[in-house]
Amino acid sequence: MASVVFAPSILAADFSRLEKEIESVDRVADSIHVDVMDGHFVPNITLGPVVSNSLKSSGNITTPFSIHLMIEDPWEYGPQFEVDSEDTIIFHAETTERPRKLIERLRDNGCKVGVSQKPDSPVENVLPLLSELEEVLVMGVEPGFGGQEFMTEALGRIERLRERIRQGNHDTTISVDGGMNPSTVGRVADAGADKIIAGSAVFGRENRPEAVREMKKALN
Ligand code: DX5
Ligand code: ZN
Repeated sequence: MASVVFAPSILAADFSRLEKEIESVDRVADSIHVDVMDGHFVPNITLGPVVSNSLKSSGNITTPFSIHLMIEDPWEYGPQFEVDSEDTIIFHAETTERPRKLIERLRDNGCKVGVSQKPDSPVENVLPLLSELEEVLVMGVEPGFGGQEFMTEALGRIERLRERIRQGNHDTTISVDGGMNPSTVGRVADAGADKIIAGSAVFGRENRPEAVREMKKALN
């Protein structure tokens, strides 16, 4: 397995200076994790295509975006994100009965596509989709807020996905989102995760590159 990569989640950033915050992790991030919440699918509201698109079009951020849609209507709003081939849009499996069609629709944006699930949703629902996806995002917490504690139940889900990806020889990244910090990253990497998404553990710190380095060190 290639080495684990890191994606800071901007949910924990200072939104009044979002572009500068993202620039502070540009050097150390594999991707910038953009949490999109609509107040319906999750009990919180963040940002949407208007903000994401203007950040991208400013030209000051070189790291790809990984857009995590925690919204009830990914069909309507997913296509409104301006993305390119290095960016990823991740939808929640609970929000559609036609996931394959939605994957096609999002792929029409010219980006990679990923799927996620709430912690209580059956992992069996996404296993048949793995061959069509670049990423499967495992929630380590109930989606909606940063700063929550990692739910260890996620480890079994990661192992299950890793096994299926290995069996099918798929090229699908397993990312883990929520509750990631130096004391939890080791367990998820051992279970088979390729990518760590961390909000508070990165943006809650003054020195962001140092925060990522500490998590990398915790993996060795
Ligand atoms: C939660 C979001 C996460 C969140 C993680 O719904 O999807 O991306 O930012 O925050 P931390 O790392 O603080 O648990
Ligand atoms: Zn997220």
